[in-house]
Amino acid sequence: MAVKPNILVTRRWPAVVEQKLAETYNVELNRSDRPLSPSDFRDAIGRFDAVLPTVTDKIGPEALDVPRAQTKILANYGVGFNHIDVDTAARRGIAITNTPDVLSECTADLAMTLMLMVARRAGDGERELRAGNWTGWRPTHLVGTKVSGKTLGIIGFGRIGQQMARRAHFGFGMDIVVYNRSAVDPAVLAQYNARQVDTIETLLPQCDFVSLHCPGGAENRNMINSARLDLMKEDAFLINTARGEVVNESALAQALMFDTIGGAALDVFEAEPRINPMLAQCDNLVMLPHLGSATREAREAMGFRVLDNLNDFFEGAAPRDLVA
Ligand code: DGY
Repeated sequence: MAVKPNILVTRRWPAVVEQKLAETYNVELNRSDRPLSPSDFRDAIGRFDAVLPTVTDKIGPEALDVPRAQTKILANYGVGFNHIDVDTAARRGIAITNTPDVLSECTADLAMTLMLMVARRAGDGERELRAGNWTGWRPTHLVGTKVSGKTLGIIGFGRIGQQMARRAHFGFGMDIVVYNRSAVDPAVLAQYNARQVDTIETLLPQCDFVSLHCPGGAENRNMINSARLDLMKEDAFLINTARGEVVNESALAQALMFDTIGGAALDVFEAEPRINPMLAQCDNLVMLPHLGSATREAREAMGFRVLDNLNDFFEGAAPRDLVA
């Protein structure tokens, strides 16, 4: 690279990755870590060769339809890219890359965490202790639901869904049922002794736990609606580490309030960081603030994966994680 490309990093990243980026590129960092406004973003598209966004940057047509755009690649920090208008980017000749693989294990670990928390009432217990309300051990205290040996339904059997199956099957002896929009290689299903069903309607009534691992975006918006929640067993639990929009939050709140399902555990929300007030009233719900990939190891690896994609692109090769 004769001239160093100008790149904008829209949020704070792990320090080791910011340093490494600065060795190769003319980097503008977001030291305040405040999300960019729509007008900041339009300005960036006019000035930088590459913009490195995250899930907190909502990049619609108005952000990308910029006269004399300078940006040639949006190298997203994260595997999900439903916050980016892929069609407009393609029309404007802007490449998009993401960061698969490197966060799959940690995201599956967090889905397991949520599953255990909601089944074993860990959130209730912690709240009780911190409030100073624990009166001591008793046989009927905060009795939850056993996880081992139960049936887990996995919706979306990509890398993260498969890591979830691995943990649930080998760690907890769970029976795995899968729904995926395309046929899964039988050899992959066999690794977890899993069986694939053709419809979500077939999966839901069989499962004690249902974990979502599909992408967000228009195709999967409100995939879990009231009709589908009604198909779940009345003591079953829903876990979502995918995208908030996949679940209709009002329908979920109704199901939780009327106890038509056993409980739910969410890491992602439709209007992050705002939480639907109805959800906040549900005791049989565990909530975490979008922590799926939040380990030092995964967050650094995500940054280095962005760097790999940028290097590919500016060296004239196809970026390894080109999604559009
Ligand atoms: C991801 O990688 O998609 C995380 O949810 C953060 O965007």
